[in-house]
Amino acid sequence: MKKTITILATFALVALAVSCNKNKDEYGYTIKDNQIVYNTPARPADQQSMLGFACDPIENVRVGFVGLGMRGPGAVERFCYLEDATIVALCDLFPERVESAQQILDRHGIARAAEYSGEEGYKELCAREDIDLVYLAVPWQLHTPIAVYAMEHGKHVAIEVPAATSIKECWDLVNTSERTRKHCMMLENCCYDFFELTCLNMIQQGVFGDIVHVEGAYCHNLEPYWDRYQGDWRMTYNKDHHGDVYPTHGIGPICEDLNIHRGDKMDVLVAMDTDAFNGQAMADKRYGEGAVKYANGDNTMTCIRTHNGKSILVEHNVVTPRPYNRMYQVTGTKGFANKYPNEGLALGSENIQFTAIDNLDAEEYMSDADRDALMAAYEHPISKGIAEKAREVGGHGGMDFIMDYRLIYCLHHGLPLDQDVYDAAEWSSLVELTEVSINHGSMPVVMPDFTRGEWNKLKGVNFALVEE
Ligand SMILES: NC(=O)c1ccc[n+]([C@@H]2O[C@H](COP(=O)([O-])OP(=O)(O)OC[C@H]3O[C@@H](n4cnc5c(N)ncnc54)[C@H](O)[C@@H]3O)[C@@H](O)[C@H]2O)c1
Repeated sequence: MKKTITILATFALVALAVSCNKNKDEYGYTIKDNQIVYNTPARPADQQSMLGFACDPIENVRVGFVGLGMRGPGAVERFCYLEDATIVALCDLFPERVESAQQILDRHGIARAAEYSGEEGYKELCAREDIDLVYLAVPWQLHTPIAVYAMEHGKHVAIEVPAATSIKECWDLVNTSERTRKHCMMLENCCYDFFELTCLNMIQQGVFGDIVHVEGAYCHNLEPYWDRYQGDWRMTYNKDHHGDVYPTHGIGPICEDLNIHRGDKMDVLVAMDTDAFNGQAMADKRYGEGAVKYANGDNTMTCIRTHNGKSILVEHNVVTPRPYNRMYQVTGTKGFANKYPNEGLALGSENIQFTAIDNLDAEEYMSDADRDALMAAYEHPISKGIAEKAREVGGHGGMDFIMDYRLIYCLHHGLPLDQDVYDAAEWSSLVELTEVSINHGSMPVVMPDFTRGEWNKLKGVNFALVEE
């Protein structure tokens, strides 16, 4: 009897161990002491870190665009204004979308580009010898596979957000970029909005003291857009997944504020979501009553603690009626900044050294006039000189143009890009990490380190500029 109990107990322990370690592959996790611990696999011998990587200057950056739906054509339009770039090729599943993009070039008096279409047209585009950069605005599910293919074929890549949808894909981007020595930048445009850029500059000048807490979000009711995503890719993804499936607009700018992988790193994450109230109602209407179970919670919240003891809050909500909000909030030991619904700054009187305002009281926002004067004084060096043109060309008020301008500027001058492959991986990693946390009852997740221990090597976020 005693022997039977011992055998059963052993079986139970083995079964438990197997279930806890079921994801114990190279890119997976184990559950230890009530925490989900992600592996950080060793760097293969044929790879080198991409931290601070710069390629040789490219006189004129030859670009191929893949994905010309709602987002892609705007990028084609913006590139028509960039002197040091040439649009060499255009590709989409549908030839008529390629033709519409050609008409943008016509309107600008620019020579038509080579055309590719169909599911694998991008392979022909990547095979061309005369392309330096592949710019991707395809459905999320295709970002990493096409980016990897492009890098393997000798191209730098710029990928719309999020760059990857799983930890395995994050590592695929890091490994391929490290092995091929090709840039892999995620196109996180919100890092280039004027308020965020100015606040980053103020943070770096010490205006807010030490930053202790930051918040970001993507709260945007996508009701008008659901029917317009090609092949229903976005709804398909959201209905199948819990978690913050679109985290990068929220987390990108605030990670820069905290110097993530440039002196600090994200250590532990906890995510929680609501039920899918509107999500399920939307799915019932779309696919038929009870036809599918909609997974993505209406509201998803994620808390992250960093190695240096800072905290981050990120939110995602794309299904309830509410004003657009990316939050962007910075709490420092000496001041506070908040972007939505109204841009506001609050500083204590000890910050007098940074401003000409002499009646500071951090319990209240300063006046709009004082805020504007302060923000003008701290305009970020990369937006100086380009801000006016950016507002004119547009793209979310100009930030998209600043992003594209910076990408081409850095390639043209052979400088490190503003956002590297580790940013792409870290910010996109929330897609899987938040889902796994939620699926385990909001269990804490020890995050992987995509720099493999080198997160303290670079000191601070630096947007490279050519010395005049
Ligand atoms: N940064 C931002 O502010 C922002 C804004 C909107 C969208 N986005 C991102 O842009 C991407 C595209 O979104 P969208 O709204 O344009 O979606 P969309 O569905 O309108 O466009 C996707 C396009 O990709 C094409 N496509 C699909 N498979 C392809 C293939 N194999 N080869 C070539 N083309 C293919 C489709 O035909 C379609 O034209 C997404 O990653 C989205 O998250 C970013």
